[in-house]
Amino acid sequence: MSEASRFRTTKIPNKIYNAELYRLQGELGKLQVWVKETGARVVVVFEGRDAAGKGGTIKRITEYLSPRVARIAALPAPTEREKGQWYFQRYVQHLPAAGEMVLFDRSWYNRAGVEKVMGFCTPEEHKRFLRQCPIFEQMLIEDGVLLRKYWFSVSDDVQLERFRKRLHDPLRQWKLSPIDLQSITRWEDFSRAKDEMMVHTDTQIAPWHHVASDSKKQARLNMIHHLLDSLPYREIEDRDKVELPERPAGTGYQRPP
Ligand code: ADP
Ligand code: MLT
Repeated sequence: MSEASRFRTTKIPNKIYNAELYRLQGELGKLQVWVKETGARVVVVFEGRDAAGKGGTIKRITEYLSPRVARIAALPAPTEREKGQWYFQRYVQHLPAAGEMVLFDRSWYNRAGVEKVMGFCTPEEHKRFLRQCPIFEQMLIEDGVLLRKYWFSVSDDVQLERFRKRLHDPLRQWKLSPIDLQSITRWEDFSRAKDEMMVHTDTQIAPWHHVASDSKKQARLNMIHHLLDSLPYREIEDRDKVELPERPAGTGYQRPP
């Protein structure tokens, strides 16, 4: 049995998972009120290999939140016009205003991963990105943005197993992209690119947090727990208590048959 398979057998029971997720989602609700009331700006970056479980975690986070407060930014490949812009420009447009939280399902880090490995950028552009990225993030943080970066880490065995599932599941087939297939054959290139990215961008003010993701449920709970723990939110209690009004007595209006 490989390391990864052995790791997977320590499954978290559904009952515990559901109860803990429910509790965490309740806390996310409090975080949302805090973000809105205090005008905080939160950016959460989700990175990792294909099928690492970023999307599923984002779904659990936003499930009970208001889309006005918590938005997802999952940008497609850049257009020709965007390719002619400053690299960070199209991401900047999605940054939060006061009272908003933006979850980046992949992010500006594409340049350090998929773009580097697939040759979508030049070596010079890649080098420039690694140099500029910490500066870019420092600018955000100095301006008060709360930035959190998560790397979802999946083993090669588990990734392959998830791709296989996608291949046979009509509800998941759309998730299997040509780039996913490349991530099987170019596993080591992606590893190298990731290591280089970490060296340059795991900074003191914006460190990477690693999420062991071979168990999806464990990964979700750990990540959400960490996010909540790392943010200075508190429950805002002095909101007006809402009471349902009495329904007025009938006006004689007859509902048509
Ligand atoms: P995802 O894993 O997000 O479902 P893909 O596996 O298809 O999507 O692609 C991985 C990433 O590579 C995406 O963020 C996508 O925008 C990016 N990408 C795909 N094609 C290009 C390209 N020609 N230039 C730059 N980025 C690209
Ligand atoms: C994930 O599950 O990690 C991603 O969100 C989906 C993908 O692999 O493309």
